[in-house]
This record gives sequence, structure tokens and C-alpha cells, in this order.
Amino acid sequence: MEKREELYAGKAKSVFRTDDPDKMVLVFRNDTSAFDGKRIEQLDRKGMVNNKFNAFIMTKLQEAGIPTHFEKLLSDTESLVKCLDMMPVECVVRNFAAGSLCRRLGVEEGITLTPPTFELFLKNDELGDPMINESHVESFGWAKAADLAKAKELTYKVNDVLKALFAEGGMILVDYKLEFGIFNGEVVLGDEFSPDGCRLWDAETKEKLDKDRFRQGLGGVIEAYEEVGRRIGMDFDA
Ligand code: TMP
Ligand code: ASP
Repeated sequence: MEKREELYAGKAKSVFRTDDPDKMVLVFRNDTSAFDGKRIEQLDRKGMVNNKFNAFIMTKLQEAGIPTHFEKLLSDTESLVKCLDMMPVECVVRNFAAGSLCRRLGVEEGITLTPPTFELFLKNDELGDPMINESHVESFGWAKAADLAKAKELTYKVNDVLKALFAEGGMILVDYKLEFGIFNGEVVLGDEFSPDGCRLWDAETKEKLDKDRFRQGLGGVIEAYEEVGRRIGMDFDA
């Protein structure tokens, strides 16, 4: 496999073409973004930590029967993935209230959501990733109804697998965001799963161990990500 030209640079990752039209290279940078790119900072080691974290989680999800785009780690900061035709939509599941849900509905952070909520957001920084519903996805042709239904089913399946994984490490999976695409007609999990795109709290102290540390200026961001990794059995030096 040969890495070719850059196709696209997102807020935290860049994407490169390869000599295989079905595969691309994701490069995890140290850039850390919040508030739809209004705040961007470089955090040492972040590219490496998120690349390895994502590889670990995607492998666990694949073992649980969830199709993902992840193929293999290429280096500390690079992974080989399948090229998906992405749905421009973010799928969010919440087990506890936090973040935009608290602001939107005026509810207290930490209340239990039973059953967990499922929300959709349009990927559009200029519009601030507005919340949308399943009818919008269909009417605007962002995804076929059956593919969206599959993405929703897989998003909930990820919840079962990851709630249990993080619980074993003494953590609560509060909420998370996933992105899906189509590969050979199949709905496949794309993008990344890292503490950038989820909320994780220590089960006892409720200490925040995710990107809210960056959003809220709490410090110790990458140290917290590494702590999460260690608690679920990862070794970042491997
Ligand atoms: P929210 O509370 O800001 O709506 O976010 C819910 C979860 O989804 C949280 O874990 C962060 C994640 N998320 C992203 O990673 N990127 C996004 O653009 C959005 C809207 C949410
Ligand atoms: N990932 C988004 C951004 O960079 C939203 C966030 O995490 O706050 O702006």
C-alpha cells in the first residue's frame, strides 16, 4: 500500500488517498477543536493517543459483529481504513444528560436517560451542526431510510458493547457520537471513536475524562485520555 495525496483535512484528522481506490489513510493530528472549530489548540501526543485508542475500540466493535471501516494501524498517528460514502449525519446516543441536551431542555447534568436517547445532527460547521430528525434525512436525501435505520440499530449496539467495556474500567459512558457510511451497499461505522467524541466519567467521583476537559478548560486532557485507555487495558507504548 502506497500513501498518495491528501484528499481532505478535517479539524483533527487528515485523509490521504492510497494506490487502492477502496482504502485511504487517516492521519490523527494533535489539533484539538471545540465549538465547531471556533477553538483549536495543539495538544502534545493527542494524534498518537486517539489513533491507538480508535484502533483498540474499532477492533472491539468488529469482534462484536459491528462492521467498521478500520483495517489496521500503519504508524503511531496513521490508520488504514476503507473508503466509505459518508452520510453527512452524526448519530448521538445519551445514557445520561450532559452537554447540549442540558442547554436545550434545561435538565440537570447527570440525570439517567431510560431508555437512552437517540439524536441526529447535520454535519455542518457553518450552521453549528443543527439537530435534525429522521424525516429530514430522508427528505433531503442525506441517507436512505433503510440505511439510517441500520445506522441507528448499530449505534445502539455500540452502546451495549462500550457501556460494558468502560464499566469494567470503572467508568460511565455518558454519551457518544458516531458517523456511518456505505461500503459495497453495507452500512459501516466510519470516522473515529475516541474521548474526543464521547463523554466518559469516573463511576465513583464523576470526574470528566473526555474532551469536556478541553471545552471547559479543566486541563489534563491527554493525561485523562491515556488514563481511560489504561483502564480498558491499552498500552500506548506498545
Ligand atoms: P453534545 O452534548 O454537544 O450534543 O454532544 C453529544 C456527544 O456527541 C458528546 O459526546 C460529544 C459528541 N459530539 C461530537 O463529538 N461532535 C459533534 O459535532 C457533536 C454535535 C457531538
Ligand atoms: N468536534 C466539534 C468541534 O470541533 C464539536 C465539539 O467537540 O465541541 O468543534
